[in-house]
Amino acid sequence: MMKQIQGFSKLSKQDKIEWLATHFFQNADLAKQTLMQYWNSNQQLQQLHDEFTENTISNLYIPFGVAPNFLIDGQFYSLPMAIEESSVVAAASNAAKFWQSRGGFKTEIIGTEKVGQIHFTFNGQADFLFSQFNSLKQSLIETANEVSANMIKRGGGLTTIDLIDKTDALENYYQIHACFETLDAMGANYINSCLEAMAKLWENELNAALANSTHKLEVVMSILSNYVPNCLVKAQVSCPVSALAKDQDKAKQYAQKFVQAVQIAQVEPYRAVTHNKGIMNGIDALVLATGNDFRAVEAGVHAYASRTGTYRSLSDARIENDEFIFEMTLPLALGTVGGLTKLHPLVKLALEMLGNPNAQELMRIAAVCGLAQNFAALNSLTTTGIQKGHMKMHLMNILNQFQATEEEKTTIAKMYENKTISHTQVVETLNAMRDAAN
Ligand code: MEV
Repeated sequence: MMKQIQGFSKLSKQDKIEWLATHFFQNADLAKQTLMQYWNSNQQLQQLHDEFTENTISNLYIPFGVAPNFLIDGQFYSLPMAIEESSVVAAASNAAKFWQSRGGFKTEIIGTEKVGQIHFTFNGQADFLFSQFNSLKQSLIETANEVSANMIKRGGGLTTIDLIDKTDALENYYQIHACFETLDAMGANYINSCLEAMAKLWENELNAALANSTHKLEVVMSILSNYVPNCLVKAQVSCPVSALAKDQDKAKQYAQKFVQAVQIAQVEPYRAVTHNKGIMNGIDALVLATGNDFRAVEAGVHAYASRTGTYRSLSDARIENDEFIFEMTLPLALGTVGGLTKLHPLVKLALEMLGNPNAQELMRIAAVCGLAQNFAALNSLTTTGIQKGHMKMHLMNILNQFQATEEEKTTIAKMYENKTISHTQVVETLNAMRDAAN
């Protein structure tokens, strides 16, 4: 059977499913039923989701959870988190509760600069290019400003443009590096429109100036950068070491071991990746729930974690004058207008739950969510180990996978209360219970 097709995108949704079901599944009816059971019965809502992207045939549900009791800069928040991984929301909630009685989370916006670049080649003298750039700079700025009327009215827009000679890295390669203030928008569309308008002017003007020359300028591409090392937010918690545990020796040991765990992630990339993954468990969940682009955030954050040439922990912990300080600074380009923010009813609800924050407030909240997640992970790792909490949730997933009844779940959860949970053993216990009952 031919597993390729022309014009798939032109088929109706039903016909797309029909074609897939007959070509890729042993049980075509089951495949169709599985896909269609996730369709929303509200047709208008389903159409909205269908139109977010192309070739939509169903919806993949991800749990939308909430971590309450986050005290951030003196205000309480309940954080919406879209994530499928067990323990993440529970861990965030526990960290929120722990820090609530120790002063809560403090945050600071360090910068909000976004970046875009026009990448081009030129086979002539750099001096000529720089002198042309200087005379065209004002026109380039005005061209960007024409695209930016609304952004400028609100106080944003293009802030700087520079010509950069990159020929040491790649033959004939130059770029125009532009910085922007995009206010409450993440800014991707806006930045790309500005860049494309400037690139057109730049290429036309330069090639007109080079009309009688053998040299040529060619724009390769114009695109925003998801690396935003000057769009930074800091989140911090601190308390006297003595407030970390009732027993003072334990409190001291706890703080020291916690600091060591962070130091390991600062010098050991294998550990740093997992450490930062834990941070992103929180950040991605909040970013996704608030309709932001988590791939952009991920790419930018990990690039930032490597900015010294070695991949390192994003967070830092220390003990200073008997004070335990745990903090993190990271780049987050987020938006609270545009994109899905008004379109997706759950995203709109998530933003309302956060008090309809502006982009800077959302940066603060997301950074806190990441720090809380990192705190919870290190707290478990340096004390009980991670499996205890993880496996409790995992147990429910195993039991659900085997359609355990509520009675079976309660009995088995009790049996495994103080035991290590292994998938095989749980399944064996469940089967044994079922055999005994028959
Ligand atoms: C699991 O999703 C995240 C952790 O591995 C993070 C960490 O090790 O710090 C628990």
